[in-house]
Amino acid sequence: MKKILATGGTGYIGSHTVIELINDGYEVDIIDNLFNSKITVLDQIEKITGKRPTFFQADLLDEAKLDEIFRDGHYDTVIHFAGLKAVGESVEKPLEYYHNNITGTVYLLEAMKKYGVHEIVFSSSATVYGVQDNPEFVETMTTGMNLTNPYGRTKYFIEEIMKDYAIADPEFKATLLRYFNPIGAHESGLIGEDPNGIPNNLMPIIMCVAEGRIDKLHIYGDDYPTADGTCRRDYIHVVDLAKGHVAAIEHMKNGVEIYNLGTGTPTSVKEMVAAFEKASGKELPCEITGRRAGDLAEMWANADKAKRELGWQTTLNVDDAMRDTINYLNKVKE
Ligand code: UD1
Repeated sequence: MKKILATGGTGYIGSHTVIELINDGYEVDIIDNLFNSKITVLDQIEKITGKRPTFFQADLLDEAKLDEIFRDGHYDTVIHFAGLKAVGESVEKPLEYYHNNITGTVYLLEAMKKYGVHEIVFSSSATVYGVQDNPEFVETMTTGMNLTNPYGRTKYFIEEIMKDYAIADPEFKATLLRYFNPIGAHESGLIGEDPNGIPNNLMPIIMCVAEGRIDKLHIYGDDYPTADGTCRRDYIHVVDLAKGHVAAIEHMKNGVEIYNLGTGTPTSVKEMVAAFEKASGKELPCEITGRRAGDLAEMWANADKAKRELGWQTTLNVDDAMRDTINYLNKVKE
């Protein structure tokens, strides 16, 4: 069984993936600076799996610490979740984003090289597709064009760095997973999305409105060319997404492989609100406001490649994600 190092493993997607990996018998260590996650996640992982991963509270920019972790860890594979991810903040602080995300990745690759670790799975994003003529995004589409913010560009640049490195090192295996919109929580209700500060993405904002921490959801435009006028996105349950990483680990190939991880089915903002209201039995205060700059009317994944090559497909839908999110919110309050 492979031994895995998960960077950002206490974060939202990282923690769900660590659980799926441990449940499948993998040994997983975590490195995280706890910038956007809490140490208590380790207790929850232990409650769910019966195993407590070895944890290093460290930053990828700390080269000496990284060297020590790799020297002692004898890893087979790295899953690289760690990174700053707030779109708006990245516009305000581009250098911080480039330094953290890109330099951090380069240090990680250098440590892997030094200690003979050849496999990496990288958390990329559908954001690398930018603006396309067709809303169904396929892996073969051009990336890096019309990206609107530094966060998105860090994902694109890191993909390119991996491609360049794969040319230089024939043993290198990188799988780039382009996530669509992750939502939901573990069915136990013990872990879920718990952002520090004010969130920017739809689902955590809905959660804050439900808890009364934000007074209402601003729906960014209802004049888009979609059936109900609101934008449509491909929301993927975080546990399905986590299982996509396990499938990726099991199918590593030499060179760089790229997979979309999405459901293939878009849901509008109004449909998301309706699904949340149905699951919670409560009305969610909303107000239609103007469009948000940079939003596409609709986009969804063509996830055929992951199905064909990884034998992976989603099994949960938006209603499942809403149920699990509400269960998580209720558990957090207990
Ligand atoms: C956004 C980012 C994308 C990033 C992704 C995950 C932009 C333009 N895109 O994608 O680069 O990879 O998050 O971090 O920021 N919405 C509302 N009200 C809100 C919040 C969102 O109506 O308060 C709508 C949006 O207009 C959109 C949908 O909800 O139609 C989803 O928004 P969001 O969760 O921010 O994800 P994306 O826009 O898909």
